[in-house]
Amino acid sequence: MIYAANFKTNHTRASTHAYVEKLNSALSAKKPEDKVYIFPPTTAFDHYEGDFTIGVQNAHEAYNGAFTGEIGVEQLDEFGIRTIMIGHSERRGILRKSQDQVIEKFSYFEKEGFEILYCIGEPLSIRDIGEDAVYRYLKAQLNGIDISYEKLIVAYEPIWAIGTGRSATVKEITTVHKELKAMINRPLLYGGSVNLKNIDEIRSIEEVDGVLIGSASLDAENFSKMILGS
Ligand code: 13P
Repeated sequence: MIYAANFKTNHTRASTHAYVEKLNSALSAKKPEDKVYIFPPTTAFDHYEGDFTIGVQNAHEAYNGAFTGEIGVEQLDEFGIRTIMIGHSERRGILRKSQDQVIEKFSYFEKEGFEILYCIGEPLSIRDIGEDAVYRYLKAQLNGIDISYEKLIVAYEPIWAIGTGRSATVKEITTVHKELKAMINRPLLYGGSVNLKNIDEIRSIEEVDGVLIGSASLDAENFSKMILGS
């Protein structure tokens, strides 16, 4: 299983150090085949050590240059970061990134050989129309993306389940993951209100290769418990 923590705009470098220290003591007990990722805010980057991979929540598609307010590969190299999240619904929605912009970023970081955690997910208005509309929407978010990229991980995060406390049901996750798995031969994560209470049923779904966790990952002990299981 893959366990990915998306801190979003939470935590500082100091609190991330404290977090990593707590997490490390728990991770010695994790299953060897489990893989842990942490996506802290970029200001929290440092040279962390432990049985996990640090990724970046976003970066500009350039090595360096005149891109005020952005960071590029040069800044990521300083911290040895080779994993990037692309297409998160908060960037598509709140930060208004179009599929074309997402594709451009994906292509650049693929060429750079980064591991890419690519996020897709439908809004409630699409879910309300029905399953076929959901599949069409998700397929459009895979348009222009090299889904055979060997360093690709996909995360299905229905927008209506993010930060709402309302996770998709086991049935909803299973049907969407089955549909996606028929197209993509890469690890597939579920995200959206995954927490200590529902993680057991979610990880027991055959088509779920891991979870992408926001709110419930912010506390190191909570995240550790989710990884180690009951
Ligand atoms: P929550 O776990 O807070 O719903 O966030 C999910 C998410 O967006 C992870 O990327």
